[in-house]
Amino acid sequence: MPTILAIESSCDETSAAICVDGEILSNNIATQAMHAQYGGVIPELASRAHLQNIVPVVDVALQKAGKGLQDLDAIAFTQSPGLIGSLLVGAEFAKSLSLALHKPLIAVNHMQAHVLANLIPERKPSFPFLCLTVSGGHTQIVLCKAPLQMEIIGETIDDAAGEAFDKCAKLLGLPYPGGPLIDKYAKEGNPDRFQFPEPKAQGYNFSFSGLKTAILYFLMNAGKSQVYKEDFATTDEERKQFIDSNLADICASVQKRIITILLNKFSKAAKDLDVKDICIAGGVSANSGLRKAFTELGEKNNWNTFIPEFQYCTDNAGMIAITAYYKLLDQKFASLDIQPAARGFE
Ligand code: KG4
Ligand code: ZN
Repeated sequence: MPTILAIESSCDETSAAICVDGEILSNNIATQAMHAQYGGVIPELASRAHLQNIVPVVDVALQKAGKGLQDLDAIAFTQSPGLIGSLLVGAEFAKSLSLALHKPLIAVNHMQAHVLANLIPERKPSFPFLCLTVSGGHTQIVLCKAPLQMEIIGETIDDAAGEAFDKCAKLLGLPYPGGPLIDKYAKEGNPDRFQFPEPKAQGYNFSFSGLKTAILYFLMNAGKSQVYKEDFATTDEERKQFIDSNLADICASVQKRIITILLNKFSKAAKDLDVKDICIAGGVSANSGLRKAFTELGEKNNWNTFIPEFQYCTDNAGMIAITAYYKLLDQKFASLDIQPAARGFE
Protein backbone atom coordinates (compact mmCIF):
# COMPACT_ATOMS: atom_id res chain seq x y z
CA MET A 1 0.00 0.00 0.00
CA PRO A 2 2.40 2.74 -1.12
CA THR A 3 1.62 6.22 0.25
CA ILE A 4 2.67 9.16 -1.92
CA LEU A 5 2.79 12.88 -1.15
CA ALA A 6 2.46 14.89 -4.39
CA ILE A 7 3.11 18.59 -4.87
CA GLU A 8 1.89 20.84 -7.69
CA SER A 9 3.25 24.39 -8.07
CA SER A 10 3.55 24.98 -11.83
CA CYS A 11 1.46 28.15 -12.06
CA ASP A 12 -0.69 29.98 -9.50
CA GLU A 13 -2.07 27.08 -7.46
CA THR A 14 -0.10 25.60 -4.57
CA SER A 15 -1.45 22.10 -4.05
CA ALA A 16 -0.57 18.93 -2.13
CA ALA A 17 -2.26 15.53 -2.27
CA ILE A 18 -1.94 12.17 -0.55
CA CYS A 19 -2.48 9.01 -2.56
CA VAL A 20 -2.57 5.51 -1.06
CA ASP A 21 -2.45 2.63 -3.50
CA GLY A 22 -3.93 4.69 -6.35
CA GLU A 23 -6.68 6.25 -4.20
CA ILE A 24 -6.59 10.00 -3.52
CA LEU A 25 -7.17 10.58 0.22
CA SER A 26 -6.72 14.36 0.13
CA ASN A 27 -6.28 17.06 -2.51
CA ASN A 28 -5.60 20.41 -0.89
CA ILE A 29 -5.42 23.49 -3.15
CA ALA A 30 -4.48 27.08 -2.27
CA THR A 31 -5.41 29.50 -5.05
CA GLN A 32 -3.47 32.76 -5.34
CA ALA A 33 -6.15 35.44 -5.65
CA MET A 34 -3.79 38.42 -5.92
CA HIS A 35 -3.14 37.96 -9.67
CA ALA A 36 -6.71 39.02 -10.59
CA GLN A 37 -5.92 42.72 -10.00
CA TYR A 38 -3.15 42.54 -12.64
CA GLY A 39 -5.25 40.76 -15.29
CA GLY A 40 -2.94 37.71 -15.41
CA VAL A 41 -0.44 35.65 -13.42
CA ILE A 42 2.66 37.63 -12.34
CA PRO A 43 5.44 34.99 -12.17
CA GLU A 44 7.49 36.68 -9.44
CA LEU A 45 4.44 37.06 -7.18
CA ALA A 46 3.43 33.46 -7.89
CA SER A 47 6.77 32.01 -6.74
CA ARG A 48 6.73 34.11 -3.56
CA ALA A 49 3.19 32.97 -2.76
CA HIS A 50 4.21 29.30 -3.34
CA LEU A 51 7.01 29.79 -0.81
CA GLN A 52 4.53 31.06 1.77
CA ASN A 53 1.88 28.45 1.02
CA ILE A 54 3.80 25.24 0.56
CA VAL A 55 4.35 24.18 4.19
CA PRO A 56 0.76 24.85 5.40
CA VAL A 57 -0.71 23.31 2.21
CA VAL A 58 1.29 20.09 2.72
CA ASP A 59 0.40 20.03 6.43
CA VAL A 60 -3.32 20.23 5.71
CA ALA A 61 -3.08 17.55 2.98
CA LEU A 62 -1.41 15.19 5.48
CA GLN A 63 -3.97 16.01 8.21
CA LYS A 64 -6.97 15.50 5.91
CA ALA A 65 -5.60 12.09 4.90
CA GLY A 66 -4.85 11.19 8.54
CA LYS A 67 -1.17 10.68 7.67
CA GLY A 68 2.17 11.92 8.98
CA LEU A 69 5.57 12.33 7.31
CA GLN A 70 6.60 8.92 8.71
CA ASP A 71 3.88 7.23 6.59
CA LEU A 72 5.22 8.45 3.24
CA ASP A 73 6.84 6.02 0.77
CA ALA A 74 7.60 8.53 -2.00
CA ILE A 75 7.53 12.26 -2.73
CA ALA A 76 6.27 13.46 -6.13
CA PHE A 77 6.36 16.91 -7.71
CA THR A 78 5.54 18.68 -10.98
CA GLN A 79 8.78 18.94 -12.93
CA SER A 80 7.48 20.59 -16.15
CA PRO A 81 5.99 22.51 -17.91
CA GLY A 82 5.20 25.73 -16.05
CA LEU A 83 6.61 28.97 -14.69
CA ILE A 84 10.20 28.20 -13.75
CA GLY A 85 10.20 30.14 -10.46
CA SER A 86 6.98 28.44 -9.38
CA LEU A 87 8.20 24.97 -10.40
CA LEU A 88 11.44 25.51 -8.46
CA VAL A 89 9.58 25.98 -5.16
CA GLY A 90 7.78 22.62 -5.45
CA ALA A 91 10.85 20.83 -6.83
CA GLU A 92 13.20 22.02 -4.08
CA PHE A 93 10.63 21.30 -1.37
CA ALA A 94 10.09 17.76 -2.69
CA LYS A 95 13.83 17.12 -3.03
CA SER A 96 14.50 18.31 0.52
CA LEU A 97 11.78 16.07 1.92
CA SER A 98 12.99 13.11 -0.12
CA LEU A 99 16.52 13.63 1.19
CA ALA A 100 15.42 14.12 4.81
CA LEU A 101 13.05 11.12 4.86
CA HIS A 102 15.26 8.84 2.70
CA LYS A 103 12.29 8.22 0.39
CA PRO A 104 12.36 8.14 -3.43
CA LEU A 105 11.55 11.18 -5.54
CA ILE A 106 9.13 11.04 -8.50
CA ALA A 107 9.14 13.75 -11.22
CA VAL A 108 5.81 14.28 -13.00
CA ASN A 109 4.91 16.03 -16.24
CA HIS A 110 1.97 18.39 -15.64
CA MET A 111 0.30 17.71 -19.02
CA GLN A 112 0.56 13.94 -18.61
CA ALA A 113 -0.99 14.40 -15.17
CA HIS A 114 -3.97 16.37 -16.55
CA VAL A 115 -4.72 13.38 -18.84
CA LEU A 116 -4.31 10.84 -16.02
CA ALA A 117 -6.78 12.74 -13.79
CA ASN A 118 -9.20 10.52 -15.70
CA LEU A 119 -7.76 7.47 -13.90
CA ILE A 120 -8.65 8.83 -10.42
CA PRO A 121 -12.30 7.67 -10.23
CA GLU A 122 -13.31 4.03 -9.98
CA ARG A 123 -14.87 4.14 -13.46
CA LYS A 124 -11.78 4.46 -15.67
CA PRO A 125 -11.35 4.62 -19.46
CA SER A 126 -9.81 1.60 -21.20
CA PHE A 127 -6.66 1.91 -23.30
CA PRO A 128 -6.18 3.24 -25.87
CA PHE A 129 -8.26 6.33 -25.14
CA LEU A 130 -8.25 9.78 -26.68
CA CYS A 131 -8.03 12.83 -24.44
CA LEU A 132 -8.74 16.48 -25.17
CA THR A 133 -6.52 18.45 -22.78
CA VAL A 134 -7.62 22.07 -22.57
CA SER A 135 -5.94 24.42 -20.11
CA GLY A 136 -4.73 28.00 -19.82
CA GLY A 137 -1.41 27.16 -21.46
CA HIS A 138 -2.12 24.09 -23.63
CA THR A 139 -4.63 22.57 -26.01
CA GLN A 140 -3.78 19.03 -27.05
CA ILE A 141 -5.36 15.90 -28.45
CA VAL A 142 -3.50 13.06 -26.76
CA LEU A 143 -3.68 9.37 -27.63
CA CYS A 144 -3.07 7.47 -24.40
CA LYS A 145 -1.99 3.86 -25.03
CA ALA A 146 -1.00 3.00 -21.44
CA PRO A 147 -0.79 5.14 -18.26
CA LEU A 148 2.68 6.39 -19.15
CA GLN A 149 2.54 6.00 -22.91
CA MET A 150 1.09 9.05 -24.63
CA GLU A 151 1.30 10.63 -28.04
CA ILE A 152 0.24 14.20 -28.87
CA ILE A 153 -1.56 13.99 -32.20
CA GLY A 154 -2.77 17.60 -32.39
CA GLU A 155 -2.23 20.87 -30.57
CA THR A 156 -2.78 24.59 -30.82
CA ILE A 157 -0.57 26.53 -33.19
CA ASP A 158 -1.13 29.79 -31.29
CA ASP A 159 -3.33 30.51 -28.22
CA ALA A 160 -4.58 27.79 -25.87
CA ALA A 161 -8.34 27.31 -25.40
CA GLY A 162 -8.21 28.72 -21.85
CA GLU A 163 -6.23 31.67 -23.14
CA ALA A 164 -8.93 32.27 -25.77
CA PHE A 165 -11.59 32.28 -23.03
CA ASP A 166 -9.50 34.60 -20.83
CA LYS A 167 -8.55 37.02 -23.62
CA CYS A 168 -12.15 37.29 -24.87
CA ALA A 169 -13.28 37.87 -21.30
CA LYS A 170 -10.71 40.63 -20.93
CA LEU A 171 -12.05 42.30 -24.11
CA LEU A 172 -15.48 42.19 -22.45
CA GLY A 173 -14.06 43.94 -19.39
CA LEU A 174 -14.30 40.84 -17.16
CA PRO A 175 -11.62 40.16 -14.49
CA TYR A 176 -8.93 37.44 -14.80
CA PRO A 177 -9.33 34.50 -15.16
CA GLY A 178 -12.38 35.19 -17.30
CA GLY A 179 -13.09 31.60 -18.46
CA PRO A 180 -15.35 30.72 -15.51
CA LEU A 181 -17.21 34.07 -15.89
CA ILE A 182 -17.89 33.49 -19.60
CA ASP A 183 -19.26 30.08 -18.55
CA LYS A 184 -21.50 31.75 -15.94
CA TYR A 185 -22.96 34.46 -18.22
CA ALA A 186 -23.27 32.04 -21.17
CA LYS A 187 -25.85 30.04 -19.21
CA GLU A 188 -28.32 32.94 -19.58
CA GLY A 189 -27.50 33.74 -23.22
CA ASN A 190 -28.41 32.71 -26.78
CA PRO A 191 -25.40 30.88 -28.33
CA ASP A 192 -26.73 31.41 -31.88
CA ARG A 193 -27.20 35.17 -31.65
CA PHE A 194 -23.71 36.05 -32.98
CA GLN A 195 -21.68 33.97 -35.43
CA PHE A 196 -17.90 33.99 -35.02
CA PRO A 197 -15.54 32.41 -37.58
CA GLU A 198 -13.99 28.94 -37.25
CA PRO A 199 -10.24 29.46 -37.84
CA LYS A 200 -8.36 27.09 -40.14
CA ALA A 201 -5.55 24.90 -38.82
CA GLN A 202 -4.06 21.81 -40.42
CA GLY A 203 -4.88 18.25 -39.42
CA TYR A 204 -5.83 17.87 -35.78
CA ASN A 205 -4.26 21.20 -34.82
CA PHE A 206 -6.16 24.17 -33.41
CA SER A 207 -5.94 27.93 -33.86
CA PHE A 208 -7.62 30.49 -31.62
CA SER A 209 -5.85 33.77 -32.35
CA GLY A 210 -8.13 34.63 -35.31
CA LEU A 211 -11.19 34.21 -33.13
CA LYS A 212 -9.81 36.65 -30.58
CA THR A 213 -9.17 39.24 -33.34
CA ALA A 214 -12.68 38.72 -34.77
CA ILE A 215 -14.17 39.35 -31.34
CA LEU A 216 -11.98 42.42 -30.84
CA TYR A 217 -13.24 43.95 -34.11
CA PHE A 218 -16.80 42.86 -33.37
CA LEU A 219 -16.66 44.76 -30.06
CA MET A 220 -14.88 47.76 -31.57
CA ASN A 221 -17.72 47.94 -34.10
CA ALA A 222 -20.35 47.35 -31.39
CA GLY A 223 -21.54 44.20 -33.11
CA LYS A 224 -21.98 45.70 -36.57
CA SER A 225 -19.05 43.90 -38.22
CA GLN A 226 -16.30 41.37 -37.47
CA VAL A 227 -13.98 43.00 -39.99
CA TYR A 228 -12.66 46.35 -38.84
CA LYS A 229 -14.41 49.19 -40.65
CA GLU A 230 -13.81 52.87 -39.86
CA ASP A 231 -17.52 53.59 -40.53
CA PHE A 232 -18.52 51.40 -37.62
CA ALA A 233 -15.97 52.73 -35.14
CA THR A 234 -17.55 53.36 -31.77
CA THR A 235 -16.71 55.38 -28.69
CA ASP A 236 -15.69 53.67 -25.43
CA GLU A 237 -19.11 54.55 -24.02
CA GLU A 238 -21.03 53.03 -26.97
CA ARG A 239 -18.93 49.87 -26.75
CA LYS A 240 -19.53 49.59 -23.03
CA GLN A 241 -23.27 49.98 -23.52
CA PHE A 242 -23.29 47.37 -26.29
CA ILE A 243 -21.42 44.89 -24.07
CA ASP A 244 -23.58 45.60 -21.01
CA SER A 245 -26.84 45.02 -22.85
CA ASN A 246 -25.65 41.91 -24.77
CA LEU A 247 -23.19 40.28 -22.35
CA ALA A 248 -24.98 36.94 -21.96
CA ASP A 249 -25.51 36.46 -25.71
CA ILE A 250 -21.90 37.45 -26.53
CA CYS A 251 -20.54 35.03 -23.88
CA ALA A 252 -22.82 32.22 -25.06
CA SER A 253 -21.81 32.78 -28.72
CA VAL A 254 -18.06 32.98 -27.93
CA GLN A 255 -18.27 29.86 -25.77
CA LYS A 256 -20.19 27.96 -28.43
CA ARG A 257 -17.56 28.81 -31.06
CA ILE A 258 -14.64 27.73 -28.82
CA ILE A 259 -16.46 24.46 -28.07
CA THR A 260 -17.20 23.71 -31.72
CA ILE A 261 -13.57 24.44 -32.71
CA LEU A 262 -12.43 21.96 -30.04
CA LEU A 263 -14.97 19.22 -30.65
CA ASN A 264 -14.95 19.29 -34.46
CA LYS A 265 -11.23 18.46 -34.49
CA PHE A 266 -11.46 16.07 -31.58
CA SER A 267 -14.32 14.03 -33.02
CA LYS A 268 -12.53 13.76 -36.37
CA ALA A 269 -9.47 12.38 -34.56
CA ALA A 270 -11.57 9.95 -32.50
CA LYS A 271 -13.28 8.64 -35.67
CA ASP A 272 -10.00 8.34 -37.61
CA LEU A 273 -8.30 6.49 -34.76
CA ASP A 274 -11.37 4.37 -34.04
CA VAL A 275 -11.17 4.76 -30.25
CA LYS A 276 -14.05 3.72 -28.00
CA ASP A 277 -13.27 5.81 -24.91
CA ILE A 278 -12.89 9.60 -24.91
CA CYS A 279 -11.79 11.90 -22.06
CA ILE A 280 -11.35 15.60 -21.39
CA ALA A 281 -8.88 17.20 -18.99
CA GLY A 282 -7.44 20.55 -17.93
CA GLY A 283 -8.95 23.74 -16.52
CA VAL A 284 -11.29 24.37 -19.46
CA SER A 285 -12.90 20.94 -18.97
CA ALA A 286 -14.58 22.62 -15.97
CA ASN A 287 -16.66 24.57 -18.55
CA SER A 288 -20.29 23.48 -18.28
CA GLY A 289 -21.00 24.00 -22.00
CA LEU A 290 -18.00 21.87 -23.00
CA ARG A 291 -18.93 19.13 -20.52
CA LYS A 292 -22.46 18.98 -21.94
CA ALA A 293 -21.37 19.05 -25.60
CA PHE A 294 -18.68 16.43 -24.91
CA THR A 295 -21.21 14.08 -23.31
CA GLU A 296 -23.61 14.57 -26.24
CA LEU A 297 -20.80 13.88 -28.71
CA GLY A 298 -20.13 10.56 -26.95
CA GLU A 299 -23.81 9.60 -26.95
CA LYS A 300 -24.14 10.39 -30.65
CA ASN A 301 -21.11 8.30 -31.65
CA ASN A 302 -21.46 5.52 -29.09
CA TRP A 303 -18.21 6.48 -27.35
CA ASN A 304 -17.79 6.13 -23.59
CA THR A 305 -17.13 9.59 -22.13
CA PHE A 306 -15.00 10.40 -19.08
CA ILE A 307 -14.77 13.79 -17.38
CA PRO A 308 -12.73 14.29 -14.19
CA GLU A 309 -14.41 15.62 -11.09
CA PHE A 310 -14.23 19.44 -10.97
CA GLN A 311 -11.42 19.54 -8.35
CA TYR A 312 -9.24 17.39 -10.64
CA CYS A 313 -9.84 19.53 -13.79
CA THR A 314 -8.05 22.75 -12.82
CA ASP A 315 -4.47 22.58 -11.48
CA ASN A 316 -4.29 20.18 -8.52
CA ALA A 317 -1.87 17.78 -6.87
CA GLY A 318 -4.32 14.85 -7.01
CA MET A 319 -3.51 14.39 -10.70
CA ILE A 320 0.22 14.58 -9.92
CA ALA A 321 -0.28 11.90 -7.24
CA ILE A 322 -2.12 9.47 -9.54
CA THR A 323 0.59 9.86 -12.22
CA ALA A 324 3.27 9.32 -9.57
CA TYR A 325 1.48 6.15 -8.49
CA TYR A 326 1.85 4.65 -11.98
CA LYS A 327 5.48 5.79 -12.09
CA LEU A 328 6.09 4.14 -8.73
CA LEU A 329 4.58 0.87 -10.01
CA ASP A 330 7.11 1.07 -12.88
CA GLN A 331 9.92 2.07 -10.45
CA LYS A 332 10.45 5.30 -12.40
CA PHE A 333 12.22 7.42 -9.81
CA ALA A 334 14.15 10.67 -10.25
CA SER A 335 17.57 11.50 -8.87
CA LEU A 336 18.13 14.46 -6.53
CA ASP A 337 19.93 16.47 -9.21
CA ILE A 338 16.86 16.64 -11.46
CA GLN A 339 15.93 20.19 -12.48
CA PRO A 340 12.49 21.60 -13.24
CA ALA A 341 11.92 22.77 -16.83
CA ALA A 342 9.60 25.49 -18.14
CA ARG A 343 8.76 23.43 -21.26
CA GLY A 344 8.70 19.77 -22.12
CA PHE A 345 6.69 16.58 -22.48
CA GLU A 346 8.53 13.39 -21.60
O1 KG4 B 1 -5.47 23.68 -16.11
P1 KG4 B 1 -5.57 25.04 -15.52
O2 KG4 B 1 -6.13 25.19 -14.13
O3 KG4 B 1 -4.18 25.77 -15.52
C1 KG4 B 1 -3.25 25.61 -16.53
O4 KG4 B 1 -2.47 24.62 -16.49
O5 KG4 B 1 -3.29 26.48 -17.44
O6 KG4 B 1 -6.44 25.92 -16.54
C2 KG4 B 1 -6.74 27.27 -16.31
C3 KG4 B 1 -7.61 27.76 -17.44
C4 KG4 B 1 -7.85 29.27 -17.41
O7 KG4 B 1 -7.63 29.78 -18.70
C5 KG4 B 1 -9.32 29.38 -17.01
O8 KG4 B 1 -9.97 30.54 -17.51
C6 KG4 B 1 -9.89 28.14 -17.62
O9 KG4 B 1 -8.92 27.14 -17.39
N1 KG4 B 1 -11.17 27.75 -17.00
C7 KG4 B 1 -12.35 27.81 -17.64
C8 KG4 B 1 -13.34 27.41 -16.71
N2 KG4 B 1 -12.70 27.11 -15.53
C9 KG4 B 1 -11.36 27.31 -15.74
N3 KG4 B 1 -12.65 28.18 -18.90
C10 KG4 B 1 -13.94 28.14 -19.26
N4 KG4 B 1 -14.93 27.77 -18.42
C11 KG4 B 1 -14.68 27.40 -17.16
N5 KG4 B 1 -15.67 27.02 -16.35
ZN1 ZN C 1 -2.76 22.81 -15.81
